[in-house]
Amino acid sequence: MLRILAIALTLCASICATALPNGLSSLPERQPFTSDFFFRQLFDEESSTYSYLLADLKTGEAVIIDPVLEQAKRDAQLVKELGFKLKYAINTHMHADHITGSGWLRELTGCQSMIAAASGAKADLYLREGDRIEFGSHVIDVLATPGHTNGCMSYVIKEQACVFTGDTVLIRGCGRTDFQEGSSEFLYENVHTKIFILPENYRIYPAHDYKGQLESSVWEEKRYNPRLTKDLEEFIQIMDNLNLSYPNKIDVSLPANRECGVYDIPKE
Ligand SMILES: [Fe+2]
Repeated sequence: MLRILAIALTLCASICATALPNGLSSLPERQPFTSDFFFRQLFDEESSTYSYLLADLKTGEAVIIDPVLEQAKRDAQLVKELGFKLKYAINTHMHADHITGSGWLRELTGCQSMIAAASGAKADLYLREGDRIEFGSHVIDVLATPGHTNGCMSYVIKEQACVFTGDTVLIRGCGRTDFQEGSSEFLYENVHTKIFILPENYRIYPAHDYKGQLESSVWEEKRYNPRLTKDLEEFIQIMDNLNLSYPNKIDVSLPANRECGVYDIPKE
């Protein structure tokens, strides 16, 4: 009886071992955030936008990436409750699908707004490739990753092994390239030369997800992104044939986003 049981267990173990999904054994280890780093992913349901509140827990200095106008009061309240001082409201690009919350947050918290100089939008501070954004002891390295728009930036925090990609890399996707001086070729080139060369365990935090996924990694997108794993020619063909409808809020969002990094546009 015992022998039968042992055989059954051995058999089960070998089946389980062969049933491991491809590549699981090489899935890179997820690096935890350091204990003085605060991270909060926030969501706007209407536009499926993720905003990220980051802070230094020793000094209380905080930044928010890609805030949404309709959520500015929520975000300001959270900053206040946690005792943070919001230093910067940082945009990854000039959004076409929602109005940035950076102008309203500026009024509510006294923070400064930031966006790429190349975006054509107004802000307190303009970003360029190679800039470093500091909050407390933490540093964000600025990468220019145009393609979805001509002013797209990605933000890397090396110490925390993560990158905020805006619409440049989405989870199993990427931003469309048919508006705002978009270029499939630039997007592809920038992803491959600036994002996909980061260590594979880096977490990817995008500006949106429409299916409920929260994060990805360089390792995952390099293997499973259905567009960016193709060669350039095929990628361009895919992007040229997306047949997407005209963005819902583009006519409202773009004029507002050109200004509201510096002007308050209260919702009420
Ligand atoms: Fe976008």
